[in-house]
Amino acid sequence: MSDLSVSVDRRLAPLFEPITLAGVPLRNRVAMAPMSRYFCKDGQPHQGVVDYYRRRAAGGVGLILSEGTYIPHPSAASYENVPHFYGAALEQWKHVIDAVHLAGGRMFPQLWHTGSFRQTGMGPDPSLPGLGPSDNSNDFTNLPERTRAMTEAEIADVIAAYAAAAADAQRLGFDGVEVHGAHGYLIDEFFWANTNRRTDEWGGDRAARTRFAVAVIRAIRASTGPDFPISFRFSQWKQQDYTAKLGETPDELAQVLRPLADAGVSILHCSTRRFWEPGFPDLGEMTLAGWAKKLTGLPIIAVGGAGLDRPGIKDAAAAPLDHVAEPLARGEFDVLAVGRALLADPDWLQKMRMGHEDTCLGYNKSHLETLF
Ligand SMILES: Cc1cc2nc3c(=O)[nH]c(=O)nc-3n(C[C@H](O)[C@H](O)[C@H](O)COP(=O)(O)O)c2cc1C
Repeated sequence: MSDLSVSVDRRLAPLFEPITLAGVPLRNRVAMAPMSRYFCKDGQPHQGVVDYYRRRAAGGVGLILSEGTYIPHPSAASYENVPHFYGAALEQWKHVIDAVHLAGGRMFPQLWHTGSFRQTGMGPDPSLPGLGPSDNSNDFTNLPERTRAMTEAEIADVIAAYAAAAADAQRLGFDGVEVHGAHGYLIDEFFWANTNRRTDEWGGDRAARTRFAVAVIRAIRASTGPDFPISFRFSQWKQQDYTAKLGETPDELAQVLRPLADAGVSILHCSTRRFWEPGFPDLGEMTLAGWAKKLTGLPIIAVGGAGLDRPGIKDAAAAPLDHVAEPLARGEFDVLAVGRALLADPDWLQKMRMGHEDTCLGYNKSHLETLF
């Protein structure tokens, strides 16, 4: 049955239609973007976290991507109060997924290793320094302590940790997993030549620097079977350098994305600040999402700036609805992820669907202080 309201802007109507994404039936094509909230003391999600995600599912969101969650390796953590995806936290994640399902939503946890953003003194093992592809991996941050290059055994353990977390997600009833391969964290540090100076099989040309991500995906595939949906989030930019590029040209981007597709990624999630901007401006209007689809044939989640444009609210990253409609009409993405607009207003989707966008609660930084 269609989730379409009569009052929605006709050009946006396809967003509110059901879709099957990598085998997962979604009631519409809007996802909640992964957003770290830092409300999980000692890594434990609590009832407030269950209610937070339940509210977005009750608000009609088709797919929820969780905030980044730490995989079961002691080097994964750089920030306090991020939820674990292992140990005692799993019992509470079960309540989250059950609540989301009861409200008609689907959900993937986002699996995260923060790479060389870690410093000695951080939990769960304060003696462990930040680990990255090479000793210089955090030269591009302001952190005082240098990263230590991962040993071969640590690489194997971290890959196994991703696989274990994904198998737990599947066992708990999650609809898939998302691997955080973006924004300059561990996987992206392996991709980037500046943070990956390894001279063994995990470093070198673009194909070699992609090997770690490929190994993570292969291990998840092996632990979850052939059909479990795996979304891979990538970005051209890194927080260490917003002008950095995974691929300067479509061909270079394909050298990263195609091996990931071959290894078993089911969905690509293209993290951009303004998703409607051209991916390669010299080559026309096509968005990065459109290029990812063209280069791999995979289903695509686009994100960045959707829903922030409202009467009276000025946000540099805001996407006027025209900007959503055009790449949507060109078929450049399958699902649109919405971050801050949904953080501010759990009912954002219902209001948009009814054509009442003027009643959406606008995002501001005070929304980060509570978990509503
Ligand atoms: C508070 C906050 C926390 C975020 N945490 C994550 C995260 O844990 N993982 C991730 O991949 N992206 C994270 N992001 C980026 C969002 O997923 C999204 O890409 C970004 O906010 C742009 O989408 P928007 O314009 O719809 O908000 C975060 C963004 C915000 C605002």
